[in-house]
Amino acid sequence: MNQVLERAPVVLTDLRPTAADITGEVLAGLAATPKTLPSKYFYDARGSALFEQITQQPEYYLTRVETRLLDARMADIAAEVGAQAHVVEYGSGSGLKTERLLRGLQDPVAYTPIEISRATLLAMAGRLALRFPRVQMLPVCADFTQPVALPAPDRRAHGVVVFFPGSTLGNFDEDEAIALLSAMRETMGADGRALIGIDLDKDSDVIEAAYNDVAGVTAAFTLNLLVRLNREIGSDFDVGAFRHHAVYVRERGRIETSLVSQRAQDVHVAGRVFHFAAGEAMLVEYSHKYTDTGFAALAAAAGLQVVTGWNDERDWLGLRLLEPVPPHDPTPRRR
Ligand code: TRP
Repeated sequence: MNQVLERAPVVLTDLRPTAADITGEVLAGLAATPKTLPSKYFYDARGSALFEQITQQPEYYLTRVETRLLDARMADIAAEVGAQAHVVEYGSGSGLKTERLLRGLQDPVAYTPIEISRATLLAMAGRLALRFPRVQMLPVCADFTQPVALPAPDRRAHGVVVFFPGSTLGNFDEDEAIALLSAMRETMGADGRALIGIDLDKDSDVIEAAYNDVAGVTAAFTLNLLVRLNREIGSDFDVGAFRHHAVYVRERGRIETSLVSQRAQDVHVAGRVFHFAAGEAMLVEYSHKYTDTGFAALAAAAGLQVVTGWNDERDWLGLRLLEPVPPHDPTPRRR
């Protein structure tokens, strides 16, 4: 592991993917039917900035509703989590929800954001270091879908709480979500907890509008993936020849976001040619919307159970507190 002392007290662990990793994943996605692109690469510096703008669009309710829900329920959350936690966040983003959590918990010991965008990660950890001098900043630049060994805080933590807001879990298909939750269970340990934000199933017009904002910020965000790939792996996507398309597929409980080829065209990546028909959709993202039973089943498949949860007043979005299912004890216990 490569530890670089940035500016005390922020210690960065850099496990960022290389251009070769990205090329391999893109080639695999383009060879699939339908073609896909890996959505974690949305978040380069421009992508992260555009995502922050998405969160401010009137149609994109998720960030606003979740932030308000966190504020409204922070006392309950802090009581459930307990004092002196090591807070671990998957995909830290701008850190605004994190600030609320670090302020609301009792004496958190350390904070480990795991984030693929190095620029976002360092900016956020640096800012939080100034605001929370008693919380040790231990950022890790990595793809959080891989298991990550947590850096050890100087002060002893009384448990790990994994914070995973923004319904980012919904960006994974079922198998990947189960794998991610299982890795999370390992990371948190037997007495750890996870606080997960999930967008709930609701009226499809409300959901679809959130992924098709009138200002076109989401379209610019998804198309930026092609800009980034052209720059970093030397592909030649004609960015003007693809269009953003996001629909809610109720049977599958998810938004499916695609980039649709506006004409027949060839794209070159690492010496290979991929043909697109006119109107062909390349899948770039899922955003699953959950029911309580569906989410509990997903958690159970990863060896986790829902301890408690909180919804906003319209039941648009929920926070769920998870813990590992205790190992089965075969001796019956007297009460
Ligand atoms: N986790 C966010 C979500 O699913 C990410 C996101 C918002 C997103 N808008 C997007 C991802 C558009 C891809 C395309 O809501």
